[in-house]
Amino acid sequence: MITGKYPNLRLRRNRKNSWSRRLVAENNLSANDFILPIFLIEGKNKTQPIKSMPDVFRYSIDNIGKIIDRAIKNQVPMVALFPNSSKKLKDNLGSEALNENNLVCRAIRYIKKRYKNKIGIMCDVALDPYTSHGHDGILKSGYVLNDETIDILIDQSLLQAEMGCDVLAPSDMMDGRIGKIRSALDKKNFKNVQLLSYAVKYASNFYGPFRDAVGSKTSLKGDKKTYQMDFKNNDEALREVALDIKEGADMVMVKPGLPYLDIIKTIKNNFKIPVFAYQVSGEYSMLANAINKKIIKKDAIYENLMSFKRAGANAIVSYYADRLNEILP
Ligand code: PBG
Repeated sequence: MITGKYPNLRLRRNRKNSWSRRLVAENNLSANDFILPIFLIEGKNKTQPIKSMPDVFRYSIDNIGKIIDRAIKNQVPMVALFPNSSKKLKDNLGSEALNENNLVCRAIRYIKKRYKNKIGIMCDVALDPYTSHGHDGILKSGYVLNDETIDILIDQSLLQAEMGCDVLAPSDMMDGRIGKIRSALDKKNFKNVQLLSYAVKYASNFYGPFRDAVGSKTSLKGDKKTYQMDFKNNDEALREVALDIKEGADMVMVKPGLPYLDIIKTIKNNFKIPVFAYQVSGEYSMLANAINKKIIKKDAIYENLMSFKRAGANAIVSYYADRLNEILP
């Protein structure tokens, strides 16, 4: 590996000028590497701040045009839709997930009609924005039922596919759901709808602000440790990914991002499949708060995002994806 030694070898030589640093750079970031999450809310002409996420907003459907116009202009390839469903629509079974006029379904139709295929649409497959208890599936005696939940997730997937969703992203962590969703989609002739599996999703403390954004924070009973992964584990991440690839995943997600760079790298080294990283809400807010308080410089955002590329991520879900012109050099 090392081809010489000091004083004839000086690694600082390549770093001396900016043009040289650019020339030898091993990784780069562009808008093509990003997925932009959008929070949806009922109502008209609403752009509502989210207390725990500085500079991130919930939009009523008639207002998402602004943020999507900008995303398309900046060549961000895809948006991810997350609903803040009103409390009165939530129940035990998350029934609102199957309502073709729920926020997500209306937003998909709006975006597809207005923008055709100029930008991809990704939607979560999971029940947590719709359940009164805030869990991703059906809760019975404090436990989230696996197979019964999958039956509903299949219907949620088919509905979102029918509305025009391009990429379904099961984020629920039920066992076996990728295979079952894939075969249900194929049976209904949705053969080209892509599956992005949140294959490696840890039971993390960094999801707090997101739960505030979708309105499940106060309602969540207990934690999600019986279905999301234990953060002590790494081999298990490989098993999850191997299974989901076998079942038909087109892409896999690792989530959260920054505390799990080792996992991204291991997966990329072991599987030749697109791997995405989710810079989750808690990571976002920590960074944003530190910058707002002038504890660290804004350039730290670029540095943070680059770490995902270095680890091997093909793309990053980030709440910064609507401001890339301020962040990328
Ligand atoms: C729910 C879901 C969560 C996130 C995306 N989809 C939260 C959770 O599992 O409780 C978190 C995203 C973030 O924190 O930014 N299925």
